[in-house]
Order: sequence, then structure tokens, then C-alpha cells
Amino acid sequence: MNPKKYTKITTHSLQEMKKNGEKIAMLTAYDYSFAKLLDTANIDIILVGDSASNVMAGHETTLPITLDEMIYHAKSVIKGINRCLVVVDLPFGSYQGNSKKALESSIRIMKESGAHAVKLEGGAEVEDSIKRIIDSGVPVMGHLGLTPQSIYKFGTYTVRAKQNEEVEKLKSDIIKLEKAGCFAVVLEKIPAKLAAEITKSVNIPIIGIGAGSQVDGQVLVMHDMLGMNMTFNPRFLRRYSNLSDIVNKAVSNYISDVKNNLFPNSEEEYD
Ligand code: KIV
Repeated sequence: MNPKKYTKITTHSLQEMKKNGEKIAMLTAYDYSFAKLLDTANIDIILVGDSASNVMAGHETTLPITLDEMIYHAKSVIKGINRCLVVVDLPFGSYQGNSKKALESSIRIMKESGAHAVKLEGGAEVEDSIKRIIDSGVPVMGHLGLTPQSIYKFGTYTVRAKQNEEVEKLKSDIIKLEKAGCFAVVLEKIPAKLAAEITKSVNIPIIGIGAGSQVDGQVLVMHDMLGMNMTFNPRFLRRYSNLSDIVNKAVSNYISDVKNNLFPNSEEEYD
């Protein structure tokens, strides 16, 4: 396929991509330097994910990260981009159960970071919040399937929607999210056949992570796909680099050069 050239990605570009059968490429980023690299490579969407809680702050789950911390990451990402759409996760505790709180948190993200949209996890439970946020003019991306903010309810990070009851809830939730006005939805770790069926059943783009190839786009956590964490090995993950090895070699060489007085050399010093 010959993809259309977009100088700026908007929520409308993504809907157009779905219509034209062009796949959407999304990655997470949390800082200025990586956002700049990803945007320069023409990524369509940067997600300032609450996975920052794991990969940036070292927490075991996504639950501890705060709204202030998410805004800090989003601000840095926004400074690094020109073309892509930047979506920011509403962190755990900043929207659940109260649409007024959800709206206030979304407005803080948009106003203080300059991001273009927010993402939140859940279906029927957050429908009112989604409508209220969208009514205020803020685009919302949904997130169904494995929703890591509910890890203590699920108990494990295994594949979701294997049982009928959960499949039916997922199908009903996706319709609710589309009707509420979500511009796209992330489907995480569900059977590929179900993801394909859901993708065909809606007009909004479905972005998969561990949801097979028959969806409208893919998302991965940047640290995972660049091979910065070699202990995380889910089946859905493809590593496109081995940064942990590359960084280890570079740092070891630097240490060796410093210890052996090989760095700096005469060309690397001032007269
Ligand atoms: O926070 C995150 O990185 C995410 C992606 C896994 C979709 O929500």
C-alpha cells in the first residue's frame, strides 16, 4: 500500500487511516529526547502511558503514578514532537467513579501539558466520564481487554476474554465506547479472532497490543520493543533492538577508556 503523507496527525487522520486500510503505528514515550526520535521516524501516535510507572519510576504496577507525574512526562514529550498525535493516560485514581473528577483531571492534562487527547481504562463503568470529557472538547481513547489499573481485581496479567461472559461484556463495552464518542480504542491481550471481529464491528480505529494482526493498528511499550528490559518476555512482544546490550557495551567501553586514561585524547581536549 502507498500510505497518504500526513504532515500532522489528528484524530480525523486516524479515522481516515482505518477507512483506507492504512495501519496505525503507536508507541509509548515519556520524555523529550525519545519523543523527538519517535516523531522524526514518523510514528503516528505517542502514548504517554501510565506504564511510565513501571519503566520510568520502577514501580511494580501502574497504580502508584500520580496525575502530576503524568503531566510532567507529557509536557516533556510535547516539546519533542511536530507531527504525531500525543495521547496521555489518565492515571489510576484520577477518574474512577466520578465524572467530575475525570473531567478535571483531563482538563489539567490538556491545559498543563499541551497534549492532544487522553486515554482511560474501562467500559460501561466509565461511560459517563467519557461522555463528559468529550463534551468538554477533549478527545478520548478507550482501553479494554487487559486493563492494568485493575490488576488486583484480575489477579494476573494473562489473556482476557476467554470466557463467554467476558466476551459479551467486551462486545457490549466497545459499542458503548464508540457511541460515547471515543476516537479510538486500545484492545490489550485478547484472542486475535475476537479482536478481528470487534475491529470489523466498529467504525473507530482499534489499536491492539497482544490482540493479533487483524486490528487497525499496533501499540507497544517503547522500552520493551527497544529491548531495554530483557526480563519481560510476553508472547506478543517483538524486539526491534537490543538496547540493553548496546548500552552495556558502550558504558563498559567508556569505563575502560576512563580507567586506562584513553579518554579524552588530544583531539578531545581544548588548547
Ligand atoms: O500505559 C501503557 O503503556 C499502555 C499501553 C500498554 C497500551 O496503556
